[in-house]
Amino acid sequence: MTTTNTFLLGGDMPVNRIGFGAMRLSATGFTGPARDPETGKAVLRRALELGVNHIDTATIYRSHDGTVTANGLIRDALAPYPDDLVIATKVGPWEHPDGRIEQTDDPAALRPAIEANLAGLGLERLDLVYLRVGQMEPPHGQSIAVQFEVLAQMREEGLIRHLGLSNVDTDHLAEAQRIAPVAAVQNQFHAGKRDDAELLAACQDQGIGFVPFFPLGGGMTDLRAGALQRVADRHEASVHQIALAWLLAASPVTLLIPGTGSVEHLEENIAAGAIVLSDDDLAELA
Ligand SMILES: NC(=O)c1ccc[n+]([C@@H]2O[C@H](COP(=O)([O-])OP(=O)(O)OC[C@H]3O[C@@H](n4cnc5c(N)ncnc54)[C@H](OP(=O)(O)O)[C@@H]3O)[C@@H](O)[C@H]2O)c1
Repeated sequence: MTTTNTFLLGGDMPVNRIGFGAMRLSATGFTGPARDPETGKAVLRRALELGVNHIDTATIYRSHDGTVTANGLIRDALAPYPDDLVIATKVGPWEHPDGRIEQTDDPAALRPAIEANLAGLGLERLDLVYLRVGQMEPPHGQSIAVQFEVLAQMREEGLIRHLGLSNVDTDHLAEAQRIAPVAAVQNQFHAGKRDDAELLAACQDQGIGFVPFFPLGGGMTDLRAGALQRVADRHEASVHQIALAWLLAASPVTLLIPGTGSVEHLEENIAAGAIVLSDDDLAELA
């Protein structure tokens, strides 16, 4: 990884700022038909070859029939894991026995979810666990204390190294920080959706990693229109690369986890770390 710099996640886990999101490995769409597992494993191995040492996953990242799971691919492709690899996962979404996925606020669901991640990844301790509290947006005004205390207890027991939060606002972050240290926050944030600037600033002030999910707009935002395309043309880069370079420039605490099931896209995304946006580029993208 050429000029991409690193960030000390949780104060003791150095990660390259371009990591990898595993959601796209197992299924087409969010939880659709299975993707080819051999391709998924090849993407993971190539990611590590290119310097990725931060992978974001979850037990719910799987094909609709459950035959291919992100955690299973990570374990098959990468275990025994390199010492510097940080695997982040999240709990909160819950799987019905029939495969339906729902968000749950039930604190009793958290320990089984941690155990499922440990077993699926073949680990005795999880590096980073996000409490994912909203579906895609923060549940403003809702306390997260009871659930976060459960995770803090499991951290005390040694099952979790660092804690994070996903789909939260600044009030949630402050509430959690009163219970246990928060190492990272993961919210939807990208060139086409920037309404978490206040939360990003709070993370930057406190040295907390900010991990924007859907860094490429989740494949649902047309990145080709407007300023991204003009800046991409100037850099002879793709709009996807400029979207990632913009996130890297947004703050020194942003950690990227672009998702892909394609080696070609992976290589393109990681190469975005070498793009330096000028002040004029950033003004145009503002
Ligand atoms: N906390 C949460 O609630 C939450 C929610 C959603 C996601 N996440 C995490 O965030 C990660 C990133 O989100 P995401 O994967 O959904 O969205 P994303 O990274 O914004 O975009 C992924 C989409 O863009 C395509 N893509 C990737 N690189 C490309 C390239 N260079 N050129 C053209 N297309 C490209 C992918 O298709 P191909 O596979 O064909 O490349 C896929 O359709 C996930 O993997 C997951 O770990 C967290």
